[in-house]
Amino acid sequence: MRGRICGTGSYLPEKYYDNNDIAKIVETSDAWIRERTGIVRRHVASGYETTVSMAVEAGRRALENGHVLPEKIDMILVSTITPNAVIPGVAFQVQAALGADRAVCFDLSAACSGFVFAYQTAQAYIAAGLYQTILLIGSETLSAINNWEDRSSCILFGDGAGAAVVQAEEGELYPSVAGSDGTMGHVLACESRVQNDWQQREADRKTYIDMDGTAVFKFAVRKMPEMAKSLMTQMHCTEADIDWFITHQANERIIEAIAKRLKSDIAKFPMNIAECGNTSSASIPILLDEMNRSGQLKGGQKIIMAGFGAGLSWGAVYMEWHA
Ligand code: UT7
Repeated sequence: MRGRICGTGSYLPEKYYDNNDIAKIVETSDAWIRERTGIVRRHVASGYETTVSMAVEAGRRALENGHVLPEKIDMILVSTITPNAVIPGVAFQVQAALGADRAVCFDLSAACSGFVFAYQTAQAYIAAGLYQTILLIGSETLSAINNWEDRSSCILFGDGAGAAVVQAEEGELYPSVAGSDGTMGHVLACESRVQNDWQQREADRKTYIDMDGTAVFKFAVRKMPEMAKSLMTQMHCTEADIDWFITHQANERIIEAIAKRLKSDIAKFPMNIAECGNTSSASIPILLDEMNRSGQLKGGQKIIMAGFGAGLSWGAVYMEWHA
């Protein structure tokens, strides 16, 4: 058995900061941010929007889209680095809000690789015959851990949530790859837990994202094509056979460099980074949902989904879109 995505959903906060808004907070410009990252604006959660509330809405929309009732869900798996509370985890609160009484729930923390890791976890549970229907959610309130005094990182991140329902189907597991390098953890770190009310928090830099952007950039540009090539070798196919490379949205230049290294048409690399910025584990499912709802994803299309991020961590999967 293997899992296939049968429904997607997403939620983006109404409020957003465009680059000119950011330029009022730190010394930067719309031109610099667009040119170096491709980002134009990013959504920012208001008081009533939290990692949980966004996860609930994205999950609800994915269930509706996949015509799956909450009582059918065997497992809810939420990927997040910005949970509302230490306990209970976000997945439990989503369960309560959706009325998914039968579901087993837990959160997974692997930053920007989190959604891919959650998808791989779902595949493993389904292949083992333990569960049939799994709700996967990536939800982040990165504005709560952004260092709003660091222009090299605060320009990048946005808030939002994306979700996918994975259902068991007959067939062998498709290939996937993943890895971690804990010795490089320091290049992208945030040592303290989320302080939701960021305006009130003390000036403790440990509560903020601390990033060596150049190191992450180089790692991503090397690792992402390597993973895609490994999957294509395992599938005995070439870049020409893949319809979409759906990658973590961290920087437009990273995605362009990946396409170049794979000698692939950039049109196969959908992007929403201009509108959303980097939403960590939510970026891939938000993009997937946008593509699904706009009709870009067609039955039988071959997709490579790939992420990278803090840890350091990386993961990629091959999938074929359902009819
Ligand atoms: O999910 C994974 C999370 N993280 C990432 O994916 C990050 C990957 N890295 C990146 O996206 C890029 O490295 C950044 C966007 C973070 C930085 O872009 P860059 O082209 O690598 O810039 P840089 O760090 O090499 O800095 C170049 C210059 C520096 O000035 P000097 O030393 O040349 O005078 C920076 O101080 O640009 C300056 N700079 C800025 N200027 C205006 C850095 N940030 C800004 C800014 N506005 N926001």
